Amino acid sequence: MTLPRHIAIIMDGNGRWASGRGLPRQAGHKEGVEPVRMCIRESMKRHIEALTLFAFSSENWGRPGDEVGALMGLFVEALDREMDELHGNGVRLLFIGERQNFPVRLQTRMLAAEGRTAANTALRLQIAVGYGGRWDIANAARTLAGRCVSGAMSPADITPETLGQAVQLAGLPDPDLFIRTGGEKRISNFLLWNLAYTELYFCDELWPDFTEAGFGTALEFFAARKRRYGLTDAQLGATR
Ligand code: IPE
Ligand code: IPE
Ligand code: MG
Repeated sequence: MTLPRHIAIIMDGNGRWASGRGLPRQAGHKEGVEPVRMCIRESMKRHIEALTLFAFSSENWGRPGDEVGALMGLFVEALDREMDELHGNGVRLLFIGERQNFPVRLQTRMLAAEGRTAANTALRLQIAVGYGGRWDIANAARTLAGRCVSGAMSPADITPETLGQAVQLAGLPDPDLFIRTGGEKRISNFLLWNLAYTELYFCDELWPDFTEAGFGTALEFFAARKRRYGLTDAQLGATR
């Protein structure tokens, strides 16, 4: 079975999971930690190189203060609880997104986790926090514009390759497989640049209900796809 090298996931449906049980939305976020552990475990089992999880979008800052506060608390708690095991398992942890709006205690933990796991190679785990695809592309454009102004490069050097080296996932293969739980069929400002040729898988399970079986179904979906990258079947046949 052909496996993806890189999987990107929008973990959606926590709020609805909780509301459906008459619980506060925060309870759904808390319940959403176990499927994260499951995806890491299942990815490692299959030697998948990279996993990118959308935990908090740039737009999620607009949610009610108590929900945002609960999420921040949950991130801190989860990091404190899971770090030793992640590091022990050889996971390299990285955060992508605009961090400066996060509570300092969280920023400190993110930096420490990245530093501590920098040499690990078993799985590259990227957590997107305060992340927006448009922000990412604008940020990359700003970086390149700065280089043009300083004379380090010229506008003619701005190409898909150089811009791709300035976005948050620079240096990684683009996600092969995208998964979104929770039933919505949209990208919600996730990795706009890197999803250009990604296979998109949507399922109805709410994130807290996402299990090994659901993860396996997504992998089967991926294995059944024929990726053409704009070419014809005949061309692909000839190059194989
Ligand atoms: C995803 O679940 C988690 C975050 C966005 C932080 P939601 O909180 O969006 O859950 P629903 O979509 O409202 O059910
Ligand atoms: C996307 O889910 C963001 C995360 C899962 C972190 P949202 O729930 O914020 O997306 P919309 O609002 O349904 O598009
Ligand atoms: Mg949602």
